[in-house]
Amino acid sequence: MDKIRIYGGTPLNGEIEISGAKNAALKVMTAALLTDQPLVLHRIPDLRDVASLSEILTQLGVKLSYDAGKKTMRLHSAAIASCVAPYDLVRKMRASILVLGPLVARHGEAKVSLPGGCAIGTRPVDMHIDGLRQLGVEIELVDGYINARAPRGLTGAHIHFPKVSVGATENIMMAATLAKGTTTLVNAAREPEIVDLGECLIKMGAEITGLGTDTIIIHGKAFLRGTEHAVIADRIEAGTFAIAGAMTGGTLRLKHCNIEHIDYLLDPLHKAGVDLVSDGDTVTVKRISKQLRGVDIMTEPYPGFPTDLQAQMMSMLTISEGAGMVTETIFENRFMHVPELARMGADITIHGSSALVRGVSKLRGADVMATDLRASVSLVLAGLVAEGATTVHRIYHLERGYENIVSKLSSVGAKLERMKEEAA
Ligand code: EPZ
Repeated sequence: MDKIRIYGGTPLNGEIEISGAKNAALKVMTAALLTDQPLVLHRIPDLRDVASLSEILTQLGVKLSYDAGKKTMRLHSAAIASCVAPYDLVRKMRASILVLGPLVARHGEAKVSLPGGCAIGTRPVDMHIDGLRQLGVEIELVDGYINARAPRGLTGAHIHFPKVSVGATENIMMAATLAKGTTTLVNAAREPEIVDLGECLIKMGAEITGLGTDTIIIHGKAFLRGTEHAVIADRIEAGTFAIAGAMTGGTLRLKHCNIEHIDYLLDPLHKAGVDLVSDGDTVTVKRISKQLRGVDIMTEPYPGFPTDLQAQMMSMLTISEGAGMVTETIFENRFMHVPELARMGADITIHGSSALVRGVSKLRGADVMATDLRASVSLVLAGLVAEGATTVHRIYHLERGYENIVSKLSSVGAKLERMKEEAA
């Protein structure tokens, strides 16, 4: 397994190109199961999670090819070869649950392993299951698997989600495109990745209105067709680099970044002393005050502050003047970066779902490790400003969601290298 060593203290200056969004790519890939015609997707990032989902789709009979240079993927699900997504593949990535809705809607049958908990929380899938049941799918939970059957097809329904869920909204929206009649999703998630998936489905012939609002209406069709679609830019990657720019104090240009999708960052970063200015599809990040200032943030469903940027923001607060309160409302166990940041000299006190971060004058390099993607990248950001060398172990997590992070950061002046972990 590899590690990354970072030598802190260099401001980042220059331009970084933002990749296609992981959390949009994974969803449009599963949409390939809804049609027997080819789907051609552009701006698919070369990431471990994309490879894991490719493996599952291949197992289900999807003929899939990926040109990592052009970032283009062609998927063709001419016939469903198997309707089983096994534990060994699903456990690698929870987003695999998204094959459930499309599979049962097109094929009338699906057997998908329950994903189980993960490092950031228990993450149940009850709303995915309840939503499908309301569309007429018979579901049994047997031996850790979701056995779903809809021999006579799905029927549209009025579904009110008890809680906002990105994955449940996407799974049910995809299934409903092939249901008889109309489905209304109330209290739906509004994330840009859901809008992107909906737009791809519309190109495939689906009839969907209300994307980007909390009520999505889907008029089911007998079949969908193939299409071509380019996924949106990764707003979490863009946000991560914006925070890196703010922390190191240089001027960073983020190319292919839609400022509307990172609106939630503008106010907290401005209060902290950082400006974000948009020109076309490029956003320039520049620290305007000499010293960053502490701010409070609370994670919320979109358009609120995303849980996927909470760890990175916390990293920034560790070196900001004064204090900042970080409240996590989405996942119950998403503070795993805190003890690691503390090893670098951060002053953080956790109380329930909040963390009080008191800024320190400097962080010191250390050996650190985290057990999820965003926690890992928050340690890379801390390493960029720490005195001395920081070694981030188990970068496996980073590779799930950050395309070429070492070369992207090096290209704007960061001093870091990828190394082999010595054998114990
Ligand atoms: C998506 O996960 C993202 N993953 C996550 O990104 C992101 O953190 C999360 O949305 C929230 O924005 C992908 O898009 C692949 P949810 P998802 O269903 O869909 C609870 C990253 O780092 N819930 O919106 O799984 C759940 O436990 C990842 O890229 C239920 O209770 O998240 C959580 O507390 C990590 N029952 C809340 O809802 C359900 O059936 C929101 O989860 C489903 C969810």
